[in-house]
Amino acid sequence: MAIKVAVIGAGGMSNYHIPGFKSGGAKITAIVDVNEEAAKATAEKYKIPEVYTNVDEMLKKSDVDAVSVITPNKFHKPLVIKSLKAGKHVFCEKPPALNAAEMKAMAQAAKKANKLLVFDFNNRARPEAVAMKKAIVSGEVGKINSVQALQIRRTGIPGFGGWFTTKELSGGGPVIDLLHMIDLALYFMDYPDPDYVLAKTYDDFITDKRFKGPWGIPDKEGGVCDVESAAHGFVTFKDGSVLFLRTSWAEMNKREEASVTFQGTKAGGLVRRLFGIDGIDETAEDTSELYFVDAKGKRKDKTLKVKKDETMGRLNAAKNFILAIEGKEAPFNTPEQGIKLMKIIDAIYASSNTKAPVKIK
Ligand SMILES: NC(=O)c1ccc[n+]([C@@H]2O[C@H](COP(=O)([O-])OP(=O)(O)OC[C@H]3O[C@@H](n4cnc5c(N)ncnc54)[C@H](O)[C@@H]3O)[C@@H](O)[C@H]2O)c1
Repeated sequence: MAIKVAVIGAGGMSNYHIPGFKSGGAKITAIVDVNEEAAKATAEKYKIPEVYTNVDEMLKKSDVDAVSVITPNKFHKPLVIKSLKAGKHVFCEKPPALNAAEMKAMAQAAKKANKLLVFDFNNRARPEAVAMKKAIVSGEVGKINSVQALQIRRTGIPGFGGWFTTKELSGGGPVIDLLHMIDLALYFMDYPDPDYVLAKTYDDFITDKRFKGPWGIPDKEGGVCDVESAAHGFVTFKDGSVLFLRTSWAEMNKREEASVTFQGTKAGGLVRRLFGIDGIDETAEDTSELYFVDAKGKRKDKTLKVKKDETMGRLNAAKNFILAIEGKEAPFNTPEQGIKLMKIIDAIYASSNTKAPVKIK
């Protein structure tokens, strides 16, 4: 029997979740959005039979196995916990939650309900990253000592005054919104335990309209812009490895880049997307390669050849969730990883506020 899914949040990302779940053999039987028009439009587009404006009502009436949460970040925790308590498996958009405390509560709820809780860290599901992880697991890379995680834009603020720029609703700016490359780096490193974080955030340009991103997200008159626009930092891990990070919505960078570079004891590597214009992918360039020195001291580079995926793993990640419910694939990530990741995010903000390294417990 096909897995039945309810989608909560009919915004832009539902256009990836819905086809992704379907490609895993699932049926989308319900859509919920507090904005009825948005819910109805998505229901019509994808022929979804049940439409709701209230999540409690959907959980009461709808006979679904799984729920996908695609709302602004503030609502992830309450909606995820509600759905788990109702006995549903949950796929939730990134970031997992506003902070590590919320993430811990979600992890506990998943454990108690004995249901899957998987996050949309879609970059792990990109063919370039899948091929790289395979090379790492095969032992080709050795022990990864150091990684550099970059997700940097020049003009990429997602609207002024909306939920993205309002800390109460989003949890922060690019540090939390663009946590993808930190997650991907940790995934390649096999999620070591973080030890210390030293970081600094900047809020230059956060109200400067010249730095708006190209997605057409409307500005909200009188809305709040109280998040950072960029951050730089360093994380040490208990196993001796280190991570350097750069992230920005608005900073004087050459080209938008999302990349993880690493140095292992047998090989170095790079998984990178260079975007066209900030946020626009038409001339994007994807790279996945390894760097070696052979027994004779000769330099050797290896390109990992993969099929191009314009969705950057978004369809694959949603498909994996369905296959994981059916026990056909391991889920791409776990709540325990979500906790470690959110502890690092919390510590980036804390270190910036205290101007000191933060010890992660
Ligand atoms: N993985 C990615 O590449 C990626 C890209 C963009 C956004 N996201 C994430 O997806 C999530 C949604 O972002 P978006 O850009 O689609 O936002 P959006 O504002 O376009 O859409 C969110 C939708 O949720 C609805 N909503 C809000 N509160 C709700 C509630 N309590 N119950 C039901 N519906 C509710 C809104 O009416 C809206 O239609 C965010 O967590 C964001 O970080 C991920």
